Amino acid sequence: MKDMIALILAAGKGTRMKSKLPKVLHHVGGVPMVEQVLRNVKAAGTRRQIVVVGFGSEAVREYVGDRAEIVVQEQQLGTGHAVLQAESLLAGTSGTLLVTCGDTPLVTEETFRKLLACHEETQAAATVLTAVMPDPTGYGRVIRDADGQVVKIVEQKDGSPDELAVREVNAGIYCFDMDLLWQMLHNVTNQNAQGEYYLTDVIGMLVAAGKRVSAFAAADYKETLGVNSRLQLAEAEQVLRRRKLEQLMTDGVTIIDPANTYVHTTVSVGRDTVLYPGTILEGTTVIGENCQIGPYVRMTNVRMGNDDHLQFTYAHDCEIKNGCEIGPFVHFRPDTVIGNGVKVGNYMEVKNSVVGDGTKLPHLSYIGDSDVGSGVNIGCGTITVNFDGRKKHRTVIGDHAFVGCNSNLVSPVHIGDYAYIGAGSTITKDVPDKALSVARAKQRNIEGWVKDDTYKK
Ligand code: UD1
Ligand code: CA
Repeated sequence: MKDMIALILAAGKGTRMKSKLPKVLHHVGGVPMVEQVLRNVKAAGTRRQIVVVGFGSEAVREYVGDRAEIVVQEQQLGTGHAVLQAESLLAGTSGTLLVTCGDTPLVTEETFRKLLACHEETQAAATVLTAVMPDPTGYGRVIRDADGQVVKIVEQKDGSPDELAVREVNAGIYCFDMDLLWQMLHNVTNQNAQGEYYLTDVIGMLVAAGKRVSAFAAADYKETLGVNSRLQLAEAEQVLRRRKLEQLMTDGVTIIDPANTYVHTTVSVGRDTVLYPGTILEGTTVIGENCQIGPYVRMTNVRMGNDDHLQFTYAHDCEIKNGCEIGPFVHFRPDTVIGNGVKVGNYMEVKNSVVGDGTKLPHLSYIGDSDVGSGVNIGCGTITVNFDGRKKHRTVIGDHAFVGCNSNLVSPVHIGDYAYIGAGSTITKDVPDKALSVARAKQRNIEGWVKDDTYKK
């Protein structure tokens, strides 16, 4: 097999996005568009990946990091000019160049694979990915001759009415024989409606030079949708979302209402887990088997075990082990680890804390910067007083401790194993193992304090 290198065009400003952010950094399916493309061309078997950056190059470069090589196109003079910027980097290399756009994020790994295979099998000089669109407006049209052979690609702004009536479009994704590509690109001019150096002209030039040009039609035109506006961004999001949900359902996840369930492409969900409406799963979230998630749960970068039940919860950058009952109305903030069989519910916030197995945090508490042991019972309204106005301090609660309702644990403080805290206590000193600590004003009853004539008998 020939060498395969991917080139991702991502230098354009994306004028129609009306954004300060370079177009390819806009998110779809939870990650920047350029990331979706990069991931899929890598998975399809390309050996090197090169991204052409221009507008907002620093931001794109920073995002891509060392996951791809970078070429800068100082001025955005067209897609042909963009490709040419990679020529010196690829000097001495031959084989297949897979050229794709950073703004077509829906093309699957499989389609890239098939396009590469088609190019190899037909021994073509170039192979174009095409799609038949219900509304081809804005795309380049694939013009074929009477035998069905590709003759050229014509851009929307340059096409005749007959050409524009064609519904088969250029997806902006191609395989090229590298040597022939450079030869042709040097002869591309900007004599067209947009005054740009069009990569698409290479196709017509190859045909005119008697070279073989193949076309590979995408199975689903939706894969080739380009994102040029916020409207198309939302359309792309919808396609990726639907695709992800269908994959999850195929793999054994129940989704009660797919129209109201949002799962990033990066998330994984185990079998027999049920997603209720209003579930939003983002980032690197991993959910185990047999969980019930939702209604109304948002999880971002959460690692979850099996058999957990969550409802009306927002959790981010944290871990929840197995068999927990969470919600309603819980906020888990970063660096929280919830052990096995933990119950957290009814208006609770937990931040940067480790909660041991079998512990109960049932109502209306704030647990921050704390190490809570296993088998602990945290009474309603308990607050860890973790902030002294300048610094945060830790609270340590031993195994099987019982913290009475409405207690303040002023950190740094340590509550021993099996210790009891009387309700309403403000604990400022460590409590030994197995001790009872009561730290509240003693109750005083003043008999007959209300005079008989102050109320009606
Ligand atoms: C392009 C194709 C069109 C195809 C469509 C598919 C050309 C001339 N036209 O049109 O046939 O149907 O894609 O979506 O190629 N870019 C650069 N540098 C530049 C110009 C563009 O890197 O100087 C990048 C953009 O960032 C973008 C991609 O190339 O990722 C495509 O550019 P865009 O301007 O969106 O081209 P289209 O008009 O969509
Ligand atoms: Ca485009």
